Amino acid sequence: MERVIIKGVGSYIPECVLSNADLEGMVDTTSEWIVTRTGIESRRICLDTEMASDLGCEAARRALENANISGCDIDLIIVATVTPDMRFPATACIIQEKLGCVDIPCFDVNAVCSGFIYALDVARNFLLNNSKMKNVLVIGTEKMSSIVDWEDRSTCVLFGDGAGAVILSRDVGEDSDAGILDVLVGANGSLGRLLHCPIHESAGPIGVSRTDQNKYFIRMEGREVFKEAIKRMCSVAEDVLLRNNLTIDDIACVIPHQANMRIISAIADRMEIPMEKMFINLQHTGNTSAASIPIAIDEALQNGKIQSEDLILTIAFGAGMTWGAALIRWK
Ligand code: ACO
Repeated sequence: MERVIIKGVGSYIPECVLSNADLEGMVDTTSEWIVTRTGIESRRICLDTEMASDLGCEAARRALENANISGCDIDLIIVATVTPDMRFPATACIIQEKLGCVDIPCFDVNAVCSGFIYALDVARNFLLNNSKMKNVLVIGTEKMSSIVDWEDRSTCVLFGDGAGAVILSRDVGEDSDAGILDVLVGANGSLGRLLHCPIHESAGPIGVSRTDQNKYFIRMEGREVFKEAIKRMCSVAEDVLLRNNLTIDDIACVIPHQANMRIISAIADRMEIPMEKMFINLQHTGNTSAASIPIAIDEALQNGKIQSEDLILTIAFGAGMTWGAALIRWK
C-alpha cells in the first residue's frame, strides 16, 4: 500500500530574542498585557540581512540531515510564505539554488498561517500522483518582522520570525496506517478584510511617507479574527476526525497554529481536549505564520511529545480567511 510519510523534520529560529520587556520600550504596552492576552513571552527576529529563504534553507538543511538524505534526493520544493524575499522569483527557487537541487520544480504557496497545511496537501498529492517523485521538501518560512508595523501595539507584539521544514516521502509497507492520513483545507475570502497586508516588498518601504507605509504592514481586526479562528479551527478539526471515523481520544498530540494561548485554550475547551495533549511553544516563538506548525512539530519531537505510531492532529487558521487540518500517523 502506497502512502506518504514524513521522513525528516527541521526548524530554525533566528538567534536574536525580542522580549516583551524590549517591546515595552518600543510601544505603549506591558509584558503583563501581552502574556495575559496572548501567552507570548518573547519572539525571535531576523537580522536585516537575513531573508525568508535563509531561514527556510537552514530549516531544510536540518530536515535533510534528519531524513538522512541530501539535496540531490529532492524531487520538488514547495515553500509556504507571505514574506517572500522578492515578488519573484519564488522563494522556493531561491532555496533550490542554495541547496543545490538542480532543475527540480519549485513554487510558493500563499495561504498565510494555514500555508504549511495547504503545502502539505499539495505535496502529498504530487507524491501520490507522480510515481517518479520520491521526496518532496515542504517549508514554511516567514520574516514577519518585515511586514509588522512596529508602531502598532495591537499587532507588533504578536509575531515572530522562523522556519520549519519537512521531507515527505513515498513509502510502501505492510503498515498501511502510517504517514499523512488526511488533509482538509478551506477558505472564506469574504472575510479577507479582517487581516490583510496590502503590499509587500522585502526591501521595506524606504523613502515613503507614513501614510504610504500603512500599505506595507499587517492590518488586523483582532477580536473578529479571534472569534473566527476558534470557530474554524474547531470545525475543521471535527470534520477531519469525523470523516476518518476518529475521535479526539484517538489523538496523542494536537499541534495547533501558534497564534494565541487564549485561542488554543478555547479550542481545547470547546473540543474537550485535555490541555496536556495540546503542544504549545508560542511562549518563545510568537506567531510565525506559515512556519508555526512545522516549527512546533520539530519542537514536539525534540521534547518527546510525539512517539512512533502516535496519531497527530495539526490545526491551522490564517488570513484569507483560510484554515486546514492534517491527520498524521507518526512513523
Ligand atoms: N498593549 C496594551 N494594550 C493594548 C495592546 C498592547 N499590546 N494592544 C491593544 N491594546 C489595548 C487596545 O487598544 C484596547 O484598548 P481600549 O479598550 O482602550 O480601546 C484594549 O487593549 C483591548 O483591545 P482588544 O483588541 O479588545 O484586546 P483583545 O482582548 O481582543 O486582545 C488580541 C487583542 C490579542 C490581538 C486578540 O484580539 C487576538 O489575539 N486576536 C487574534 C489575532 C491573531 O492571533 N492574529 C494572528 C493572525 S491570525 C492567526 O494566526 C490565527
